[in-house]
Amino acid sequence: MDEAALQQALKDTQNLGEMPDADAVGTVGSPDCGDMVRMWIKYKEKDGQKVIDKASFQSFGCQTAIAVASIATQLIRGKTKEEALSLSAEELSKPLGPLPPMKIHCGQMVEGALRAALEAEQKAAAVPAAAPVVADQSGTLADALSAAGKTQGKIKIVLTSERKD
Ligand code: FES
Repeated sequence: MDEAALQQALKDTQNLGEMPDADAVGTVGSPDCGDMVRMWIKYKEKDGQKVIDKASFQSFGCQTAIAVASIATQLIRGKTKEEALSLSAEELSKPLGPLPPMKIHCGQMVEGALRAALEAEQKAAAVPAAAPVVADQSGTLADALSAAGKTQGKIKIVLTSERKD
C-alpha cells in the first residue's frame, strides 16, 4: 500500500458527511472488525442520461476504509449507475496501491456500501412512492452503532459535523 497516498487521502478527505437530499443510501458493516461504512448518492440528468451527481460517506472504520471511501466518492461522480456498479474494490482503492491482506476487507466494505446505495435506489424505483426506501437507513451511523451496542471498544469515531468543505 502507498503510505503517502493513504496519508494524503486522510489529510484531504473528500465528501465526508451525511447528504440530506440523497436519492439513495447504503450501509455495510464488517462483522470481523465491527466497522461500518454508509454511502449516500445523488443523481442528475446529463445529456439525457442519469448519472451520479455526487456521493458522500460516513465511516467509523479504520483509516484505510475512510481513504478508500473518499477516493470512491470522487471516482464515481459523473458515472452511470451501471458504470459505478462495475467498479471493483481494487479499482476503488487503486490510488492507494495494492492493499495488504489485512486491509482488503476495508476496500470491499466501501464497494459493498456503494453497491447497497446503488441497488437501494433501484429498489426504490420499483416500489410505490409511499413505501419507505430502506427502512433501516434512518438516523446517523452513530445511531446505528449505538443501537448495535458498538460505540465502545476499538471503533474509531469520525466526527463529520465539524467538517466544512
Ligand atoms: S474496515 Fe475493518 S480494519 Fe479496515
